[in-house]
Amino acid sequence: MAARALLTRVAREIRRDIASARERDPSAQGVRAAEMLATWPGIQALLTHRVAHALHGAGVPALPRTLAFAARSLTGIEIHPAASIGAGLFIDHGSGVVIGETAQIGDNVTLYQGVTLGGTGFSTGKRHPTVEDNVTIGSGAKLLGPITIGHGAKIGANSVVVADVPENATVVGVPGHPVRVDGRRVEGPDADWIHLPDPVADAMRVLSSRVAELERQLAELTGRAPPHDSEAATVHALRPVKGRNPAGG
Ligand SMILES: CC(C)(COP(=O)(O)OP(=O)(O)OC[C@H]1O[C@@H](n2cnc3c(N)ncnc32)[C@H](O)[C@@H]1OP(=O)(O)O)[C@@H](O)C(=O)NCCC(=O)NCCS
Repeated sequence: MAARALLTRVAREIRRDIASARERDPSAQGVRAAEMLATWPGIQALLTHRVAHALHGAGVPALPRTLAFAARSLTGIEIHPAASIGAGLFIDHGSGVVIGETAQIGDNVTLYQGVTLGGTGFSTGKRHPTVEDNVTIGSGAKLLGPITIGHGAKIGANSVVVADVPENATVVGVPGHPVRVDGRRVEGPDADWIHLPDPVADAMRVLSSRVAELERQLAELTGRAPPHDSEAATVHALRPVKGRNPAGG
């Protein structure tokens, strides 16, 4: 009875995986399900993982790892049997994808070839990323450690991501940093190194005006004329503030 329920669940998941590949792979339009099962490595790896994961959950020894190894040999996609994968994952092209033991993937996620959901070292416990629903991860991206990739985020090709990613953010680069959140450009670090503040000149200017005030009061008390303005200390900014902001701002 339990085995039948398991089979039904796995069959449902596989149908959804094929539908997702059809929706998100332009080259899959009009291709029959049987042809996709036979020739799409992402679908083959997922099918095998669905079975291996169910067996792993049921406590079956050795077989889940053997299945994962067979899928890896055939497709170049390595998914640990314990990894938790939601409905509608689409792995395009596939080769070089690695999904670690404690990785968790939500629904409707897309991965391209060369994506790693890996750990950062030799720590145990939860050490692989959690990827929430509707995330897209570009080819060659490495996501390392027990980080969370927020709902709807996009990870650029070849990024290396080692920190949490907010929902609906686009992250690119090494290390990965957000360039868009909710479709809007992110305020970056201030890269204007021409118009820098000059705290030393500011402090001198304050001291100079206090000395001038003291001289004025002293002149009042002694009846002597205060020094002429041209004799007062003039403070020039230490750094000339010239030119366009090189950050383009
Ligand atoms: C990250 C990605 C999803 C962004 O797409 P998008 O939402 O259309 O965003 P944009 O193209 O406007 O890019 C936003 C900024 O990030 C930069 N950028 C985009 N992708 C980048 C990447 N992989 N690495 C570094 N910078 C990248 C853009 O130049 C742009 O910079 P700007 O704001 O200074 O102009 C997309 O570029 C990407 O890498 N997709 C992966 C696709 C893939 O792996 N395909 C494999 C097919 S086989």
